Amino acid sequence: MRLEPVVCDLDVGNTEIVANMIGADVYRIEAADPYPHDYEQPMIMRTFIDGLDLSGKIIHPFVTYAVSGMGNTVDDYTRACPDSSIKEGLAVQGEQAQGAETAVRDWLQRTRMLSA
Ligand SMILES: Cc1cc2nc3c(=O)[nH]c(=O)nc-3n(C[C@H](O)[C@H](O)[C@H](O)COP(=O)(O)O)c2cc1C
Repeated sequence: MRLEPVVCDLDVGNTEIVANMIGADVYRIEAADPYPHDYEQPMIMRTFIDGLDLSGKIIHPFVTYAVSGMGNTVDDYTRACPDSSIKEGLAVQGEQAQGAETAVRDWLQRTRMLSA
């Protein structure tokens, strides 16, 4: 039996909520075509990073997810950005986004992106 995901449109997405907690500059990445509801289709971040030169940059990926956690994120970024340094990322379960302040702060301190 295949479980179908529950899909709904949020006023403020889970990723945006966590991005704002991180406190860095936040940029919205919009799909040229409407974002699909099909789990198998979206490759929006892959398309985005393929268009950038991130050589020499340090990248700390963060994701929100339903079940997969970081999934293949680190491997995918390592392959897509061979001249970048992929460091510790953060995975927040989407339904926990509102309460992720402590996890975000701990991650920022652990990775020395925030000193105090
Ligand atoms: C089209 C689509 C594909 C998704 N694929 C996955 C997935 O492969 N693994 C997973 O854990 N969650 C998946 N999710 C769940 C989202 O990652 C999760 O709900 C996330 O918090 C949504 O963030 P947003 O509100 O910023 O879009 C998917 C959601 C959608 C709409």
